[in-house]
Amino acid sequence: MTKEKFLPEKFYIVGFGRREMKTSEFRETIHTALLKYFDEKGLDSYGWDRLSNNLYYRQGVFEEKEPYQKLAELLVSFDKEVGACITRYFYLATPPQYYSTIISHLDHSKLAEGCGQGTAKWTRILIEKPFGQDAESAMELENQLAKTFEEKQIYRIDHYLGKEAIQNIIAFRFANGIFEPVWNKDYIDHVQITMAEMAGVEGRIGFYEGVGALRDVMQNHMLAMLSLVAMEQPSNFSAESVRDARASTLTSIKLIDEENVDRVVVRGQYGPGVIKGAKIVGYRQEEKVKKNSSTETYVAMKVFLEQARWKGIPWYLRTGKRLSTNAVEISIVFKQICHILFKEIGCPEEGNILTLRISPNPGIKVRFIVKPPGHEFKLSTTDMEFSYKKSFEKEKEIDAYEHILEEIFKADQMLFNRSDEMHAAWKFVNVILKHWEKNLPGNFPNYDAGSWGPKGADELIRKDGKHWLLH
Ligand code: BG6
Repeated sequence: MTKEKFLPEKFYIVGFGRREMKTSEFRETIHTALLKYFDEKGLDSYGWDRLSNNLYYRQGVFEEKEPYQKLAELLVSFDKEVGACITRYFYLATPPQYYSTIISHLDHSKLAEGCGQGTAKWTRILIEKPFGQDAESAMELENQLAKTFEEKQIYRIDHYLGKEAIQNIIAFRFANGIFEPVWNKDYIDHVQITMAEMAGVEGRIGFYEGVGALRDVMQNHMLAMLSLVAMEQPSNFSAESVRDARASTLTSIKLIDEENVDRVVVRGQYGPGVIKGAKIVGYRQEEKVKKNSSTETYVAMKVFLEQARWKGIPWYLRTGKRLSTNAVEISIVFKQICHILFKEIGCPEEGNILTLRISPNPGIKVRFIVKPPGHEFKLSTTDMEFSYKKSFEKEKEIDAYEHILEEIFKADQMLFNRSDEMHAAWKFVNVILKHWEKNLPGNFPNYDAGSWGPKGADELIRKDGKHWLLH
């Protein structure tokens, strides 16, 4: 963004945290962090000097009043420097347990008012997930936020909505007349969404332990993907219409009866194993993890949507850490009806499958049936592929967070969860959470690092006569 001069010459980024640090040290810390991605020369060409001069740091303990007052004074001095009211973005990239404290201090210190003093609303708040720990705490946080900020000032971040291949779902579905007519229960057998990660929790145990895959990924990224694939056509291409369409889909997810949770939801935790030749310790052996931890690192489920378009069609979702590969894919599996013409020669077991590959190598794949070359007339399947990299080799790939920040600066909320979307997702997940809280897993760890997850997840889909496409 700095390289492309998307940002003005002068802007102010103020780091605010517990650690004692001078602004010069803060700049150095950011510089070192960026060197992981660029070399010195690369960084210079990306306008490091310009960025660096705009970085500041203020030390402050989140629970204390005074640091916020000092921060307010600093921001007022910036306003004076440029002789204008600068829009303030408060980006809460902090552990979620501090959200409430920080919001209340932003309110009391009047930082949240900005220099427009209540009327101009020249402030925005950016909140990273997880937004709450469950439906109740999300609602509390929401109520607290609503006292200080209006919905138009609140940006609930789910970086998946900023990914290029995910934004493309709307374009793909509604700009191409050939898919929408078959995008329904009459033609589609089921949908699979997989988010598989080889990585473990890395340096984030403090956050992950007690949170788990259901809250970390299913409640947000997975359901966000589902909402885009399943939603009805928005009435127009405005942030509110797209959010209306996503929200109405999320509200239509059939809540699972508590007594059915174990039948349609599978949780897992990895034990020791091997990934790419390297030995991996089990989750419970990771530092700072409880020896009897019941935090799930894997979850798979079958869900239905109460919408005419999808009535009776199962959606299989699964996500997990320390699996055998990295892949985020959405597969729409079409009904395979062997045409009467080919009854005698036989059809492939699987017919058309449309796969939206989110990562790695984002793209789209369509599996279709062909007659392979040869004397005999037989039927087989093959794939037709589109790859972002190959088709747009000259275009620069934009990171999801870059997209998200651009949209925030443009004050466009399309790529952000609205309050009703977030609540609908929590409402669905809450039943599972409550059931799990009452029924601790007796079988953890139940999959090896480097495998495809617990056996129960295979069984979940196999008992419906289907199988995971990625395995
Ligand atoms: C984050 C989760 O939101 O998304 C992580 O907290 C997960 O646990 C990550 O690894 C995955 O994001 P991406 O963009 O690497 O697929």
